[in-house]
Amino acid sequence: MNGFNISRPRRNRTSKALRNLIRENELTTNDLIAPLFVIEGKNEKVPVTSMPGQFRFSIDLLVQKVKELEKLGINCVSLFPALDDSIKDSTATESYNDNGLFPTAIKAVKDACPDMLVMTDVALDPYSSDGHDGIVDPKTGEILNDQTLEVLAKMSLTQAKAGSDIIGPSDMMDGRVAYIRQALDEEGYKNTNIMSYTAKYASSFYGPFRDALDSAPKSGDKKTYQMDFANKREAIRELILDESEGADILMVKPGLAYLDILSELRMNTTLPLAVYNVSGEYAMVKAAAEKGWIDGEAVMMESLMAFKRAGADMILTYFSQEAAELLQ
Ligand code: PBG
Repeated sequence: MNGFNISRPRRNRTSKALRNLIRENELTTNDLIAPLFVIEGKNEKVPVTSMPGQFRFSIDLLVQKVKELEKLGINCVSLFPALDDSIKDSTATESYNDNGLFPTAIKAVKDACPDMLVMTDVALDPYSSDGHDGIVDPKTGEILNDQTLEVLAKMSLTQAKAGSDIIGPSDMMDGRVAYIRQALDEEGYKNTNIMSYTAKYASSFYGPFRDALDSAPKSGDKKTYQMDFANKREAIRELILDESEGADILMVKPGLAYLDILSELRMNTTLPLAVYNVSGEYAMVKAAAEKGWIDGEAVMMESLMAFKRAGADMILTYFSQEAAELLQ
């Protein structure tokens, strides 16, 4: 047998030390962004049933949670408000109320943890009685792009004023990055970062998140603004627009079923790339682990590493705390 010229990839796997040495990607706490939900009240910690281990926190407990995450080495939290229906209206007025729950929460977190980066989501859905990311034309049901931009800009300013470091437009309206950038610059927020949800797909993986915020669309779906999950070239089109409009960081969402999109964007931009490991992906792992059908921790770490391998610089994930605890 002519064995000496057989290429043996297994040779590099023979010991843990050697595997450590040749490892191509690392996951650290620097990669993690923790999404958190905030509600009105005091000392409130309401579980999100479809996301075991995730809660809606009142501001006091939110601040405690952020301190905990900071101790674990996490650099950034992404905040979302869960508002009472009574406060929602068709033009999302509450989204630019400087004294509302959300700006108050942002301020509280920044006061308590000035070094923690606060990222905030920009879209109408948590504030809209229609549950859509844009303004709905009452006659036709159309999501009105250009009228929505005005609200997005006001909302971004409210968040920036409250201390948000990173504005995250997740609404998928055309032209929003440029519109928000201009509004921020005009008011002196030239260093407020924009992380654009560049390739955000109309996905059924967002179900548990909509439970958490009670923000599911009241009618129709989000397919006239979020992307068709059959498309990849279109993601590059969105990338080119976001770059030209001044986005600082680009994002792909969802994550696990969209690793090809992440990899494609990685090859087509020099900007930092984020991926959103969304609520439904979290719920699936938790549910299967609860049944004892998979090893939840192992699947979590494998998934997070897959994002790094596909080209993500950072990962928004509900697993942030668990992963950070394991990485310590
Ligand atoms: C708001 C928004 C959504 C998510 C993040 N920002 C829901 C949606 O677009 O319907 C989903 C996040 C998740 O599922 O974890 N536009």
